[in-house]
Amino acid sequence: MRIVVAIGGSIIIKDKNHEKFYEYAEILKGLSKENELFIVVGGGIPAREYIKIARSLGVNEAQCDDIGIDVTRLNARLLIFALKEYAYQEVPHTFQEAMKVGLNGKIVVMGGTEPAHSTDAVGAILTEFINGDLFVNLTSVNGMYNKDPNKFDDAKLIEEITADEMLNFIKDKDVKAGTYEFMDMTAIQMIKRSSFQTVVTNGFYPENLTKAVKGEKIGTRII
Ligand code: UTP
Repeated sequence: MRIVVAIGGSIIIKDKNHEKFYEYAEILKGLSKENELFIVVGGGIPAREYIKIARSLGVNEAQCDDIGIDVTRLNARLLIFALKEYAYQEVPHTFQEAMKVGLNGKIVVMGGTEPAHSTDAVGAILTEFINGDLFVNLTSVNGMYNKDPNKFDDAKLIEEITADEMLNFIKDKDVKAGTYEFMDMTAIQMIKRSSFQTVVTNGFYPENLTKAVKGEKIGTRII
């Protein structure tokens, strides 16, 4: 299968150490034996910190986004270091570049592309661009719930949802630099117009990626 995996910065660099990079590298190396892999890495807390400082310096939101993109690319480089020779050794900046370098059989690792969306959207666009079969979005939550699980004990995980239902759910959410929640609008629009499978699942457990690839029930599947 041709698979795109978006790993949230809130997962991979949460504790500002190497551990999750290492754990993901091991899982990805195994999956790369039978699959073509394209990885998109998020910015996490470091991106938010840089964006906050940039905003205090009075720059506009697009420039704040641009700083965020730089941080996602730094995180992508760290994952490349962890993957060693399994990864293509440069971070593509565009979808064309990612597609081109993907032809050499290595794992491709990138970060953001341009302002006004998050790396979730990069993952979704990339999946369409390369005609991927599956998009796995690894986040800090188990998937999508019918209500906020932090506030309601009886919140239930939604195992399957349509892109339309999701669009309706996130339509009032914030789109400022560094503030994308769950998944951004652009990502869901891409999922809606394309035919690939999408799974959103908890990335704190890297084995969830393997389960999603095997087609096991894990997180929320967007149909
Ligand atoms: P992330 O994709 O990590 O955003 O990019 P996020 O959803 O806020 O954070 P996670 O999922 O918890 O890791 C960090 C920031 O970089 C900018 C945005 O400002 C985003 O909030 N960015 C990233 C872009 O503008 N374009 C991109 O293609 C990627």
